Amino acid sequence: MRTSSSVSSIRIAPSILSADFARLGEEVRAIEKAGADLVHFDVMDNHYVPNLTIGPLVCEAIRPHVKIGIDVHLMVEPVDALIPLFAKAGANLITFHPEASRHVDRTLQLIRDHGCKAGLVLNPATPVQVLDHVWDKLDIVLLMSVNPGFGGQKFIPSTLPKLRTLRAAITAHQAAGGQEIWLEVDGGVKVDNIAEIVRAGADTCVAGSAVFGAPDADGGYRNVMNALRTEAAKAAAQA
Ligand code: DX5
Ligand code: ZN
Repeated sequence: MRTSSSVSSIRIAPSILSADFARLGEEVRAIEKAGADLVHFDVMDNHYVPNLTIGPLVCEAIRPHVKIGIDVHLMVEPVDALIPLFAKAGANLITFHPEASRHVDRTLQLIRDHGCKAGLVLNPATPVQVLDHVWDKLDIVLLMSVNPGFGGQKFIPSTLPKLRTLRAAITAHQAAGGQEIWLEVDGGVKVDNIAEIVRAGADTCVAGSAVFGAPDADGGYRNVMNALRTEAAKAAAQA
């Protein structure tokens, strides 16, 4: 597990929202080969967010193409009916937005009951207090650093102090005997800002346009992944 002096376990999760959807199998194989730790899978319903993407059938279709975990980010409302479907389709982590579930505690438990890691997603304007009564049921906290709905947006700087607050809360939770909880950041993560994001406390970074914006033909995905890791390591050196 990551401590403030080590980023050896920083996870990088390319978001396939920016992949070529006509070649999704090849795209996920390419990011796994390039060293990705997780496939970040953005599910949008044109209700909770103003965009429409992919569902359990696509998750099931890419599952045989990679060994790495599939990190399903649900931007849907309601949430619960999709959980068994994604678990069956091969999801490993499932996160959802608390505003989209009437019963947050129940939804977290439902995810775990289906054998997946469970997490809540905080929008830029969602207070961290929404986590107050469910710390024991969290395997991951996903902090949005853009408003959800689209890839390629600009990182919102107020995410950094919020990350520091969350890192302190997770450290306190674990010091009191609590379970491991990952802290993931999603939106606008690039080679030039990942160091400060990791320094602020993230241990898992989603990167969509940064990775898939590179041409893969000449190993571009690997180059970006390596650059992201090198920058993340700088954060460790400065810690
Ligand atoms: C936004 C999605 C993100 C997005 C990240 O709603 O949750 O995962 O794809 O893309 P970039 O890295 O381009 O901001
Ligand atoms: Zn996402």
